[in-house]
Amino acid sequence: MDIGLEVKTDELTEEAKKVLLKNIVGAFTKPAPELYPHQWNWDAGFIAIGYAHFNIDQAESELRHLFSGQWANGMLPHIVFNPAGDNQYFPGIDFWETWRSFDAPEQVQTSGISNPAVHAFALQRMYELAEDKGRALNFVQEMYPKIKAFHAYLYRERDPQQEGLVYIRHPWESGNDNSPTWDIPLEKIDFNKVKVPPFTRKDLNTSDADHRPTHLDYDRYIYLIDVFRKGDYKEDQIYRLTPFAVQDPLFNTILIRANEAMIELGEMIGENTSDFREWNTKAVLAMNSKLWNPSNALYDAYDLISNERIPMEASSGLMPLFAGIPSQTQADAIVKVLKGKMFAGAGGESYYLCPSFTPTSPKFDTKKYWRGPVWINMNWMLYHGLKRYGFDEEAVAIKNDSIELLSRYGFYEYFEPKRNATGQTPGYGSHQFSWSAALYLDLLSI
Ligand code: DGY
Repeated sequence: MDIGLEVKTDELTEEAKKVLLKNIVGAFTKPAPELYPHQWNWDAGFIAIGYAHFNIDQAESELRHLFSGQWANGMLPHIVFNPAGDNQYFPGIDFWETWRSFDAPEQVQTSGISNPAVHAFALQRMYELAEDKGRALNFVQEMYPKIKAFHAYLYRERDPQQEGLVYIRHPWESGNDNSPTWDIPLEKIDFNKVKVPPFTRKDLNTSDADHRPTHLDYDRYIYLIDVFRKGDYKEDQIYRLTPFAVQDPLFNTILIRANEAMIELGEMIGENTSDFREWNTKAVLAMNSKLWNPSNALYDAYDLISNERIPMEASSGLMPLFAGIPSQTQADAIVKVLKGKMFAGAGGESYYLCPSFTPTSPKFDTKKYWRGPVWINMNWMLYHGLKRYGFDEEAVAIKNDSIELLSRYGFYEYFEPKRNATGQTPGYGSHQFSWSAALYLDLLSI
């Protein structure tokens, strides 16, 4: 590997496994030692991919535990709480008041919002890597109806105009929680007219405030949760009340890629896959007719409340490559954007691929949560997207950048995107971050 750095892959592999094993809490693995004491939804999918390389029991346990929190309507919550960690994290069990919903499980405590649907392609990767295919097939059969119920929930409850595009109702559902993309719809919440319930943040007890969302961001996040709980988590009621309803290209891309995985897995186990095919036919058309923006060769987001496009400046706009959504001509244009000043940089400024938000924007912040730093899970998806269209060289560049950052700085949550940055801390957010370790194990093998 020519990255101007000797990477000791054996040592790092052992280190990555240790990070994962140390973060185990009973049946699941928490995302990080301190900041995130519960099980997070899309983290669990990426974490299961990592375990599939060395501990299949734990990989299966991750998905089983996550789906133990699935709601009766199919919703898969973004957090399944570990009651023992409840005093370390806000908003915790009591704040969500999910008991208001008839759909929330009684025995398992969860949040009341969801997360990107990564589980089907995590399951597919587990099957690919499995030595015991019989056991892996049984696990596919076990998970299949649960994942299907989740996708069905999204298309039933989150696509009010039946366009084939689902909406997110909280920035935390996107996974790119603090992306400047959400500033535009969030700015419409007017705190002269509405009130935020009192709350105290806990994330700043263990993290640097410079890396985390601002207090105003938190006021908005918490206000939205208050709207959902006052609506008793009834989806139709929430859609009437929520000031935030956005069709996100990343969330939809992940769902489309997951539908593809469900088609392949479904054929293997003799399931009817027609729903997934219908969802995808409609969704790909809608992505290209409604969200594709030829003027900047990225996929925009769309605000369903103001009926306006949200111009995309985040790497989410490149991500439809991952699900084969663009044509080859569109893909060529997207890759030019990736390699140009918007993400790779130009002139004296050069960036590790891929910054989560464009360095060309005044909102770019190299340290702050989803407002610029490089994330390993985004790079993993981008790698696959580039390969899919034959951009092998660019895919390898993304993989090498990821491995360089991980080996240089360790298994942090997110990373400094400037190649020649000086004086910064090595990595940002949390250290010993589970999905960075898990996806390192997978990146080595692809
Ligand atoms: C957090 O607490 O920052 C999470 O990302 C929200 O789920």
